[in-house]
Amino acid sequence: MTLTELKQRSLLGLKELDKEEIESILDRAAYWENHSSKVHQVSQGKFAANMFFENSTRTRFSFEVAEKRLGAEVINFSAAASSVEKGESIYDTVRTLESMGIDVGIIRLKPSGVLAELATSIKVPLINAGDGNNEHPTQALLDLYTMRKQFGSLKGLNVSIVGDILHSRVARSNLYALRKFGANVNFCAPSNMQAADLDAPYVSIDEAIKADVVMMLRVQLERHASGMLNSAESYRENYGLTVARAEKIAKHAIIMHPAPVNRNVEIDSELVEHPQSKIFPQMQNGVPIRMAVIERALG
Ligand code: CP
Repeated sequence: MTLTELKQRSLLGLKELDKEEIESILDRAAYWENHSSKVHQVSQGKFAANMFFENSTRTRFSFEVAEKRLGAEVINFSAAASSVEKGESIYDTVRTLESMGIDVGIIRLKPSGVLAELATSIKVPLINAGDGNNEHPTQALLDLYTMRKQFGSLKGLNVSIVGDILHSRVARSNLYALRKFGANVNFCAPSNMQAADLDAPYVSIDEAIKADVVMMLRVQLERHASGMLNSAESYRENYGLTVARAEKIAKHAIIMHPAPVNRNVEIDSELVEHPQSKIFPQMQNGVPIRMAVIERALG
């Protein structure tokens, strides 16, 4: 296999991935979701390294479950328990694991853009598990999968993404992918959490909750300059999905959130497991999506 072919198996973002490729990942995820046995040996003898330089629960563990369900050998790397603590660079860390013979690297990084740079020098396929505020492609794939399962098609779907758009890699990946399928995406955010690099229109919260999909985003306090969020109460009042607002959403509409959730800030606690909420199904769908992505990377 040539280096170019190997690199085509990477998944760095959805902006550059064509619609057919995304569709084939969603279809393969449906295959895995409907497969009755839990463990398969399609990736037996392959080594997958989960390299998380930033904390994660859902992404990290669903990649691990996905890799194990495919029969791969799994290596879990956590920056806090590694030589990164002694000052080793991200590049040297990834090169170290590559030199040991891994077949795919799943990487989450805090700074945006480092992943793209790494991908120019690392030869094994790399999968973006969250890249600063740039992209989170497997999250958006599982979001699209959840919407497609609910509505059958993404074409013409009205999707509102509400919250901290500025710091959201989830909003970016969803916007890029949903538009390829003909969905209409609106954003809703306070002015200091709007993203100048994205061209989706901003609407009021009353308008946003009229959509087929109301996707709430976490207020990412860890990425904020000080003073961005005046008070959790006023954010909830102006931009949160409250119980009163949820009563106004359409009966066919769904509530989504990539999680982790700040309960009673961007979404009221009672709504997390509301009958129209897909928050836990989203997490469930993350496993077949990541199986499809890992399988594609390993060939
Ligand atoms: N949605 C998401 O990326 O969650 P984690 O940060 O827990 O992986």
